[in-house]
Formats: sequence, C-alpha cells, structure tokens
Amino acid sequence: MADLMTAVRVHAIGGPEVLRPELVPRPEPGPGEVLVEVHAAGVNPPDWYARSGFTLIPPQLRPVPVLPFTPGTDVSGVVAAVGPGVRRWRPGDAVFGLLRFPTTVGAARGYAEYTTAPEGDLAAKPAGLEHVRAAAVPMAGLTAWQFATEHAPVRGGETVLVNGAAGGVGHLLVQLAKRAGADVVAVASGRHAAFLQGLGVKRFVDYTTTAVAAEIHDVDLLFDTVGGPHAHRLVAALRDGGVLAPVFYGDYGDEQLARRGIRRQSGQVRSHGGQLAELAGLLAAGELRVELDSVHPLTDAPAAHARAEQGHLQGKIVLDVTGGRV
Ligand SMILES: NC(=O)c1ccc[n+]([C@@H]2O[C@H](COP(=O)([O-])OP(=O)(O)OC[C@H]3O[C@@H](n4cnc5c(N)ncnc54)[C@H](OP(=O)(O)O)[C@@H]3O)[C@@H](O)[C@H]2O)c1
Repeated sequence: MADLMTAVRVHAIGGPEVLRPELVPRPEPGPGEVLVEVHAAGVNPPDWYARSGFTLIPPQLRPVPVLPFTPGTDVSGVVAAVGPGVRRWRPGDAVFGLLRFPTTVGAARGYAEYTTAPEGDLAAKPAGLEHVRAAAVPMAGLTAWQFATEHAPVRGGETVLVNGAAGGVGHLLVQLAKRAGADVVAVASGRHAAFLQGLGVKRFVDYTTTAVAAEIHDVDLLFDTVGGPHAHRLVAALRDGGVLAPVFYGDYGDEQLARRGIRRQSGQVRSHGGQLAELAGLLAAGELRVELDSVHPLTDAPAAHARAEQGHLQGKIVLDVTGGRV
C-alpha cells in the first residue's frame, strides 16, 4: 500500500470550513518532477478563489474547479526524491517555488505534507530564510518581480504609486520599486503606516481618511493591487501619458485612459524558478524582506482562509506543515 500523508482537500465549493485535512496517498514524482517534503505552504488569493468557486473572477473568465482538489501553489521544503530526467535537484536540497501556475490555478496541491513539482518551478531556498518565510514569497514575489521588470518596468527617478501597498504583492512591489530608484507613494489603511514607512516609502496615504487622487498628482506609474468597481478614481493621480499597471480586475474607464494617453500594462503571474532565484539572492542579501501576517498549522487551513477573507493583510499568510497530522 502507498505511504499515506496529510493533505487538505476540498470536496465541495464553499466557505473556509470545506477545507478538510485527510489522509491520502503520497504522490510519486513523474518525469522532470521532484517530490518535495513540504515544510510550509503559502496562502494566496487563487487558493480561496478556487475553494469558493471563483466568484470574484468575471464570469467569462471563471475557471471550473475539478473536485476534489488540494489547494496551494506556494511551497518551501526539502527534496525527498527525484523523478526520471531531473538534473537540477538532489534529495536533501532545500527548495521553494510557485508550482504549475497558472495552469492549475489555485490547486497545485501545496497544502500537503508532500507534493510533486516541475524542477524548473523551483529555486534553492536561501539558507538563512526559514521555511515559513520562504513559502510566503513565490506567487507574491514573482508577481511583483514580473510587474516591476516586465509588464511595467520601474525606472529610477520615477514616482510610483502602489495601491494595496501592505498586502502580499504590494509590500514586495514597494521594495522592488524603491530598489529600482523610484520614489514610492504607498496607499493602504492607516494600520499599516509604520510598517510601510519602515520600508522607506516617500509618502504614505491612508485611503480610509483621504481622497487619494485629491492629494497625489503626477505619478508616473501606478501599480494597483486592489482594482474593483471604484478603481477609476485613482487614475486621476497619474500624469498624462503615465502607466497604469492593474494587478487585478478593475473598472478604470477606458475613455479616460485613452484621452489622457495613459498606457495600461498588465499580465498574469507565471511559475519561474530562474526569477525566483533572483528574488532568493535579494532575500539572502537582506535587500528584500517578506512580512508574515500570520502562520497557521496545516490542519488549521480553515482559520488561514478565514483570515485571508477578513482582508487588511500586512504581508502573507502561511501554513506550517511540520506541525502535526490528522
Ligand atoms: N495579475 C496577477 O497575476 C496576480 C498575481 C497575484 C495576485 N493578483 C491579485 O492581486 C490582488 C492582491 O493580491 P495580494 O496577494 O497582494 O492580496 P492581499 O495580500 O490580500 O493584499 C491586499 C491589500 O490591499 C489592501 N486594500 C484593500 N482594499 C483597499 C483599498 N480600497 N485601497 C487600498 N488598499 C486596499 C489590504 O489592506 P488594507 O485595506 O488594510 O490597506 C491588503 O493589504 C488580488 O486580487 C490577487 O488576486 C494578481
């Protein structure tokens, strides 16, 4: 009989309570894959979008979840075995990665004691970074990296506004933009003021007490990690001819963008072990830090999703997978 392991599974679409820790067979790595003993798994919006039926995604783009599934795309752990043809990794290597994204949406089976991973999705975990912190990085870090270097490259001397600046993607975008030499304006609720000032932002604006676009003008580049029906209100902070980089869906008013010559630059994050290795270098050098909002045992995955849905995150939510079995 196959070895058993604990994995969190979703058998029916619903609230956080549908996340159930169960004993399931340990997977086997296929060609080009490694088996990772997971020490920690990051929690990301697509995990809970999938669990709740993707209701926040516009209907025409909404994927159909295949039940049952194990959520989780971000893991940090140790290579336990390698499949045929794997050259980069050996048993015992400490690795982290964003797995199979976007092909599996939020269901790459990261919320488990073991998971399989394409070898190219992984990077070596920095030795000084604990697994719970490394697991917080992959999706948010690669999103920030791909936005700040590919979709809407940040240039030194620019003024960059990050909306949702304290969140998983936001706080990493703040740091990458600052590192590229930009002056960063951070927009978030007031509870995050000290945290964001500690990351070296030039200006902090509390959107709960201030009409942002009445205070801030002539921004060169706007990274919006919030979106939504009121997203167009922030566009007034951009200069004519500036760049709007939406990280999520939002109503920005195409007419206004065209009239003012504002370019929209966006994209979908994808797995990339090479870019993650670049982020690992910055983390190891202390040039980038990842903040933890909260850490929950794997078997408390419902509490982690309940926290995610409360909003107002400061950094990332992570599941500690070393803490016990069902
Ligand atoms: N394009 C892609 O490939 C891609 C990749 C990753 C994520 N995403 C999307 O990007 C979004 C952000 O992801 P995330 O992981 O960073 O989420 P998150 O960790 O939950 O962060 C969201 C942040 O936005 C802040 N916020 C909420 N409402 C706000 C408002 N009206 N104005 C300003 N800030 C507000 C929240 O805190 P406060 O309200 O307390 O400030 C929170 O810190 C999600 O919708 C996700 O699906 C897209």
